[in-house]
Amino acid sequence: MAAIARALSGWPDLAPLAGRLLDFWPALSSEPTAWAMDEQTTLMVVRAPALDGVERWHGPADAWYLDGFSPAKNPDMWSDALMDLVFDRTSPGGTFATYTVAGWVRRNLMAAGFEVARAPGFGRKREMLTGFRRAAGASRS
Ligand SMILES: C[S@@+](CC[C@H](N)C(=O)[O-])C[C@H]1O[C@@H](n2cnc3c(N)ncnc32)[C@H](O)[C@@H]1O
Repeated sequence: MAAIARALSGWPDLAPLAGRLLDFWPALSSEPTAWAMDEQTTLMVVRAPALDGVERWHGPADAWYLDGFSPAKNPDMWSDALMDLVFDRTSPGGTFATYTVAGWVRRNLMAAGFEVARAPGFGRKREMLTGFRRAAGASRS
């Protein structure tokens, strides 16, 4: 809790929302839990190992940011099984982005069904991957 509060203190503009997050954090289980942060924002939190967590949450997501440490050191966050679930829980037209361009991660994302492209990266990263789930019935050409 103290670590979360310290991390969130870097965004003073978000203090009211950060306070709400800290209020509900102790009550979280591994089941997906929705919290109304304000009138416009609902935060869904799943506190579980990634594969279990995404399996329990049925989505769909409009956008994913895949940020799971280095694929070489933490392959569980980039596995074919997890990328299949991520694709399954993505809206038609939904997107992903990730800082890694590791070949096997790109192949897992493509095998799952995403259209994948390389894009210019940020900071020290020369490139990143972006992609989307084609809308149902959209042609590949
Ligand atoms: C690079 S950090 C992401 C940080 C976050 N996106 C941010 O900007 O603050 C990677 C996160 O993935 C979590 N993580 C790593 N392996 C995981 C796994 N198998 N299941 C669930 N979370 C995992 C770590 O605990 C860490 O919080």
